[in-house]
Amino acid sequence: MKITIIGSTGQLGTDLMKTLKHEHEVKGLTHQDIEVTDYNTCLILKKHHPDVIINTAAFHKTDQCEEEPLKTFSVNAIGAKNIATISEEIEAITIFISTDYVFNGSKDTPYTEDDTPTPINTYGISKLAGELYTKQNPKHYILRLASLFGVAGASGKGGNFVETMITKAKKNEPINVVDDMWMSPTYTKDAATTIKKIIELKLPFGIYHATNQGYCTWFQFAKEIFKLSGLNPALTPIKTEQLKMKARRPRFSALKSIRLPKYGIQMREWKQALHDYLIEKEHIPAN
Ligand SMILES: NC(=O)c1ccc[n+]([C@@H]2O[C@H](COP(=O)([O-])OP(=O)(O)OC[C@H]3O[C@@H](n4cnc5c(N)ncnc54)[C@H](OP(=O)(O)O)[C@@H]3O)[C@@H](O)[C@H]2O)c1
Repeated sequence: MKITIIGSTGQLGTDLMKTLKHEHEVKGLTHQDIEVTDYNTCLILKKHHPDVIINTAAFHKTDQCEEEPLKTFSVNAIGAKNIATISEEIEAITIFISTDYVFNGSKDTPYTEDDTPTPINTYGISKLAGELYTKQNPKHYILRLASLFGVAGASGKGGNFVETMITKAKKNEPINVVDDMWMSPTYTKDAATTIKKIIELKLPFGIYHATNQGYCTWFQFAKEIFKLSGLNPALTPIKTEQLKMKARRPRFSALKSIRLPKYGIQMREWKQALHDYLIEKEHIPAN
């Protein structure tokens, strides 16, 4: 298959490039090559004429999104519209990467593909709009991911949570992490493998949740990072309200797929994925 990846040097994009390139003709587009908010630059997609276009581009600094709603909607919603429109014209499949933040967090059990999104912040609202625009192309997959960690680190966020924790611990900084916000940590390498399977198995078009299995609070995630890395910093659990963040965040945004297992796709537990990430990043030796 001919596959084009938008945001190919980002955290997920890097793993998608590595995962797909052996068996497919893959073209990566960086932010220098394409500006998703500008329809004219998106016309480059017509030149490549791929079978599948994976759009990982996003403005996803959640607090900054509250201050810059125009930019947020421009990238996450209008960008998705531009990509879906061109994909449809060239009869390509659009893959849009969405988020657990399309949910409001009032549930106590993981959100499935059957739950209705009701986002509570600008980032989530803009990504839901991106999902709706993506659906304009009947040949679409919407993949909801969450709390990503991958070797490249998120370029839009300046790294990832695992690296932030390890860096602080190595500097002997005291670390405060929220213990009342639940999510499903997800390794971008595993998400990329799932996306590959979805494309290759030609799953029915639609929405899929693609996170590592299980969930935890950010504090519990930090504890596991330090346990596996053999670090022992002063780690204190705090409440979300103590951080006075600009954006409201869902209290519980764990995801679970009830669709992927029907096709034999099951992502592993987040703790196993974290262990492999720490090895890949050379924080710990391979066994
Ligand atoms: N990170 C998370 O925890 C998380 C959680 C749930 C869902 N997601 C979603 O997963 C996707 C990938 O996340 P990630 O962590 O891989 O992000 P990332 O590392 O920031 O990657 C995004 C990529 O898109 C490019 N990009 C940004 N704005 C663009 C624009 N206007 N036009 C063209 N390219 C643009 C970036 O290039 P530059 O850096 O050069 O601008 C970067 O290469 C995003 O759609 C995000 O919403 C992320």
